Amino acid sequence: MVGFLPWRAFLMRGDYNGVVDGLRLENGLVWPIPVTLDASEDEIRELRIRNGARLVLRDPRDDAALAVLTVGDVFRVDKRREAIKVFGTNDIAHPSVDYLFNQRRGKGFYIGGGVQAIQLPNHYDYVSLRQTPRELRHYFRKLNWGRVVGFQTRNPMHRAHRELTVRAARSRQANVLIHPVVGLTKPGDIDHFTRVRVYQAIMRRYPSGMAALSLLPLAMRMGGPREALWHAIIRKNYGATHFIVGRDHAGPGPDSNGNDFYGPYDAQSLVKAYQHEVAIEFVPFQMVAYIQETQEYVPADEVPPNITPLSISGTELRRRLRTGAHIPEWFSYPEVVAILRASYPPRHKQGFAILLTGLHNSGRIAVARALTTTLHEQGSRQVSLLLPETMRGEFSTDLGYSKKERDLNLQRYAFVSSEIVKAGAAAVCAPITPYDDARERVRRQVSKYGGFYLVHISTPSRSALPATEAACTPKPAK
Ligand code: ADX
Repeated sequence: MVGFLPWRAFLMRGDYNGVVDGLRLENGLVWPIPVTLDASEDEIRELRIRNGARLVLRDPRDDAALAVLTVGDVFRVDKRREAIKVFGTNDIAHPSVDYLFNQRRGKGFYIGGGVQAIQLPNHYDYVSLRQTPRELRHYFRKLNWGRVVGFQTRNPMHRAHRELTVRAARSRQANVLIHPVVGLTKPGDIDHFTRVRVYQAIMRRYPSGMAALSLLPLAMRMGGPREALWHAIIRKNYGATHFIVGRDHAGPGPDSNGNDFYGPYDAQSLVKAYQHEVAIEFVPFQMVAYIQETQEYVPADEVPPNITPLSISGTELRRRLRTGAHIPEWFSYPEVVAILRASYPPRHKQGFAILLTGLHNSGRIAVARALTTTLHEQGSRQVSLLLPETMRGEFSTDLGYSKKERDLNLQRYAFVSSEIVKAGAAAVCAPITPYDDARERVRRQVSKYGGFYLVHISTPSRSALPATEAACTPKPAK
């Protein structure tokens, strides 16, 4: 909770309105992002949530009791208003608007009240890199670091980020705190395990004694300017005296019309306006890019005339990882690229699933067996054959053939095959899948981890129905 000061409680109505409308708690202190606890009408009734009630807040991962909340207020919320005021939009292409409207659908109330901590959440990953605000402040005092520039990131770091942070440190005669968020970030971002391996590798590229790495367990909102100000306040609580805000800080990407939600330097303007009140000096950077002629990284406002600097966007980097294309050394360090390639192998090295559909007696199972044998012959990866007899026999003895049961059966195929694909192997599946929506769910689940190929075996069938019609007609298996 120290990391969130002056926030001390899930926002009560007055604080909530103050934050949403004017970036301030009721007592006037600056706080730009609502931190709230939502609930549905049913939950409020069933858990008898009313003023004075005490609720234990548990970690959903392991049920550990983290804090006790004493309810001070329960109020209905207008999420549309919150989205427009806080994120400047009600477009669900914005991840936080989607979260508010869809992922928390039905949770129309906020519960305000003070929290009393019981214990910190349990973490098993990178324990030595997780410091509390007190621990980090103590660390800086011990090393006599009087000036510390905080650097927020939710992405892997490359040369541009190393150059930017070193520049910031040198210009302010300060040390650097690399302080990446390892909570929820933007959907599709590189996972935090891979990122932390990258950060550990890049730390060795800093001048000795200049920089420290610590992980911040924060869920990002992708709220652009408001989020940048919030990040600065949090970093101040962790002991930073300065905070870097570069181009498009916490930017959520394009809206439904393909336009960016925020201007590239909107975050800098807002942080600048509040920096004295929140007592942390912000360090602005224009877009930092590479100049081939001088082999250095410079911000856009220092690029000599007639020179076009080089950069590689996140989308382009992901494309190069996916296809195995070259990633130049001016862009990133070889050890960083090696870590990314190990976690995100190119398509031809990823696992994949082939879902064969077709009528009973269409030859679907014979093709599945032949294909599995051929893949075994090639020997590039392990292959698993998931036939109806195996899946029904091993997993789905409880299921019949209604639409609901068939869907559930297919969900089990999706789960098993996605685990196989995640491990880099191949799954050949030949279920009876009469429903398109169920097949699409398998595609969505498997595609998170590798390739997915839907193959329709459209042979003349003994049922005498035209093949396409037959393939779409739900029929019980014999
Ligand atoms: S963010 O969502 O955490 O802001 P990212 O990790 O990409 O995304 O950026 C971290 C910080 O570095 C932000 O302040 C961002 O503006 C800044 N930054 C990243 N890349 C550049 C760049 N090439 N030039 C200037 N600033 C940058």
